[in-house]
Amino acid sequence: MGAKYELRGNVAVITLDNPPVNGLGYDTRREFAAGIDRAMADAAVVGAVVTGAGKAFSGGADIKEFGSVKAGAEPNLLSLIKMVEDAPKPVVAAIHSVCMGGGLELALGCHYRLAAPGTSVALPEVKLGLVPGAGGTQRLPRVLGLETALNMIVSGEPVKAEMLAALPGQKLFDALETGDLLAAACKLAAEKAGQPLPRVRDLKVTHPNADGYFGFARNTVRAMSKNFPAPLKCIDAVEASVKRRFDDGLAYEREIFLALMLTPECKALRHAFFGERAASKIPDVPEDTPQRKIEKVAVIGAGTMGGGISMNFLNAGIPVVLLEMKQEALDRGVATIRKNYEAQVKKGKLKQDKLDARMALLSTTLNYADIAQADMVIEAVFEEMGVKEKVFKTLDEVMKPGAILASNTSTLDVNKIAAFTKRPQDVIGTHFFSPANVMKLLEVVRGEKTAKDVLATVMALGKKIRKTAVVSGVCDGFIGNRMIEQYSRQAGFLLEEGCTPEQVDKAIEKWGMAMGPFRMGDLAGNDIGWAIRKRRYQEKPAMRYSKTADLLCELGRYGQKTQMGWYDYQAGKRDAIPSKAVVEMIEKHRAELGIKPRKIGDEEIVHRLVYALVNEAAKILEEGIASKASDIDMVYLTGYGFPLFRGGPMCYADQQGLFNVVHRMKQFAANPHDDASFWQPAPLLAKLAAEGKSFT
Ligand code: NAI
Repeated sequence: MGAKYELRGNVAVITLDNPPVNGLGYDTRREFAAGIDRAMADAAVVGAVVTGAGKAFSGGADIKEFGSVKAGAEPNLLSLIKMVEDAPKPVVAAIHSVCMGGGLELALGCHYRLAAPGTSVALPEVKLGLVPGAGGTQRLPRVLGLETALNMIVSGEPVKAEMLAALPGQKLFDALETGDLLAAACKLAAEKAGQPLPRVRDLKVTHPNADGYFGFARNTVRAMSKNFPAPLKCIDAVEASVKRRFDDGLAYEREIFLALMLTPECKALRHAFFGERAASKIPDVPEDTPQRKIEKVAVIGAGTMGGGISMNFLNAGIPVVLLEMKQEALDRGVATIRKNYEAQVKKGKLKQDKLDARMALLSTTLNYADIAQADMVIEAVFEEMGVKEKVFKTLDEVMKPGAILASNTSTLDVNKIAAFTKRPQDVIGTHFFSPANVMKLLEVVRGEKTAKDVLATVMALGKKIRKTAVVSGVCDGFIGNRMIEQYSRQAGFLLEEGCTPEQVDKAIEKWGMAMGPFRMGDLAGNDIGWAIRKRRYQEKPAMRYSKTADLLCELGRYGQKTQMGWYDYQAGKRDAIPSKAVVEMIEKHRAELGIKPRKIGDEEIVHRLVYALVNEAAKILEEGIASKASDIDMVYLTGYGFPLFRGGPMCYADQQGLFNVVHRMKQFAANPHDDASFWQPAPLLAKLAAEGKSFT
C-alpha cells in the first residue's frame, strides 16, 4: 500500500494508492518520493503526473498514523512538497473526487493542476484544532486570493472544484478537465517539458485593504469560535502569506501548527474525531459480521419519542409504519411529524417536495398484522414493564422470523424485556434522546443474548440515520443517565450547602456545559427524576441524596411544562427566571438540616459536578458497560451538551491528571455536608491514578 509508478509514453504517472482515501501515510510518502526521484533521474521521462487511485486524489494525512512516530517520519509531507516544487521536470497534479488537507497541500506544490468537476476541495485541519501544517496557509491564498482562501481555511468546509475554477483570476486549477483527466494531465506534462516551471511560492498575495480585512475577519471569527484557538490562528498564518517572505511564512505556519498540537482544545477535538470512529468498533464483533437487511421499519407508540424516531428513518428514505392503540393518538403523532417538517420548510432547511416524499414513506395502523413484515420494530410506548411485556409478547407472535425487536426504554432492564419473547437474540435496546429527530446520540443497548449480527446491523443503521451510535451494556440508566444521576445528586448537595440553582447553573455553563443541571431538569421535567428516585431509594435506602428536588416536585414545580420548576417561566417563553420561592424553599430545608450556608466558588462547583460524572464513568468502564473511555465521552459530547473543547468527561479528567482528580475527590470527601461514600474513588480510577495512567 503506497504509490504506484508507471510510464505513459515519456511521462511518469505516480498514483497514490492507500485506500480508502489515499492518506499520506509513511509507506505512501516513501514510495511517492521514490517515484519522483525515479522520474527525475530517468532521461527518457520528460515530466510526471501525480494522481490518486480509486475514490480520491488524497484525503490528506493518514489518520491511522496520527500521533505516532511514523506521522512525522521522513520523508514527511513538507519534504515531499519541496521535492515536487523543486523538481526540474514538470509535475502535474491530476485531481479528482477528494482533495483535502495534505492532499491539497501536495497538489499546491505541483507546477500544474488539472481537476475533474465534482472534486471536493478543502483544508479541514481547523476541525481538528489545527492550522494546515504543510504550506496550505501560504500557498492557498497565492492561488485563490486572500478572502476565498481564508474562508476555506477558517471554516475547513469543502468547496467544489467547479466553484473554485469559476473564480476570476484563480490560479488553483490550470483547467477543469471534463474528459480523460489522466490523458490530459500527461499531455500537459509533455507539452511543458523544457519550459520554465511556475511555482506557487513565487506568486504574490495582494489585497486592496489587507489590514482592514484581517481586522474584520478577526472580529467575526473571535465571536464565532469562543473556546477554540485554531480559527484565529488560521488568520495569523494566512496574514503571514501577505506580509512575510514565503519561507518565513512557512516557518511561522509550522510554529503555529506545533503549538496548537499541544493545546487541550486540539487534543479534545482529535479525541472526539477518533472517538466517533472508535464507537462503531465493538471488540468482539468483527467488522465483517454479516448484517440483516433493514428496508422497512415499524415504530410502536406515536408519542414524543415515537414520532421523532420515525422521522430519522423517513429522512434516510426508509419507510415507516407507525402503530398505536387509538386513531386519535396516530393522528396526533402524524400531525406533529408533519408540523416539524413544515417548520423546517419555513426556515428554508427543507424543500416542499422533500417534505412530501418523506410523508409519503409514512403509513399508520392500529393493527399488528400490518407491521408483521417489517425488518425492524422499535417500541416507544409508556415506560412501564407491564406495557412493554404486552407489546413484546405480541411482537414475538406476529413479527416475521429474523426481524429485529428494539426497545427505546430509558430505564428498564432490556434482558427482562428480551425474556418476554422466545427470540431474545433478536432483541436490543435503541435508546434515542429527545428530541429524537435532532439529538445525535443513540445508545445501543446490548442485551445478554443479543446476537452479534443484530448488534452489527443496528450500529450500521445508526450511521445510516446519522447518529453517533454507542454500545452500552444493560444497567440502570445505561451509560448516560446512570452518570447524570450522580451529577444531579451532587448538584443537590451543592444547594444544601449554600448555592442557589442559578449559581450552580451559571458556573457549569460558564465552564462550557450547554445547560446546567437545574435548567436541564426544568426542560426534561423534574417529575421524571422524582419517579426514578422513589424507586431508587426504596432499593437503596442508605444512599444519601438531597431532598430539595422532591420538595420542589411536591410544590408541583415540574419545570417548563408547569411554567415553574427550579426557575419561573413566562407563558410561551423558555427564559429561566430565578425564583424567590425556590430560594426560600432551599433555605428552609437547609435550616432544618442545621447547615450554615457557605459561599462555594465556581471551581468547586464545576469539579464536584464533573468528577461526579467521572467517578461513575470509571465504574461503568470497569463493569464493561462501556467498552472504552472514548465511548463514554461520545455519549456526553453528543447527548448531554458536554463542551466539545473539553473532549468529554474522561478526556477532561485525563487532561487534569487522574492523580489530581483523586486528590480533589479526597478533599470533597472530607466535607461534612457532602457524602464521603460518594467520593470514594472507583477502583479503576484509584488504580489508574496510582499507576500514573489515564483513561484514554
Ligand atoms: P409518550 O407518553 O409521549 O408516548 C407513548 C405513546 O405510546 C403514547 O402515544 C401512547 O398512546 C402509546 N402507547 C402506549 N401503550 C401502547 C401500546 N400498548 N401499543 C401502542 N401504543 C402504545 O412517551 P415517550 O416520552 O415518547 O416515551 C416512550 C418511551 O421512550 C418510554 O419507554 C420512555 O422511557 C422512552 N424515552 C423517553 C424519552 C423522553 O425524553 N421522553 C427519552 C428516551 C427514551
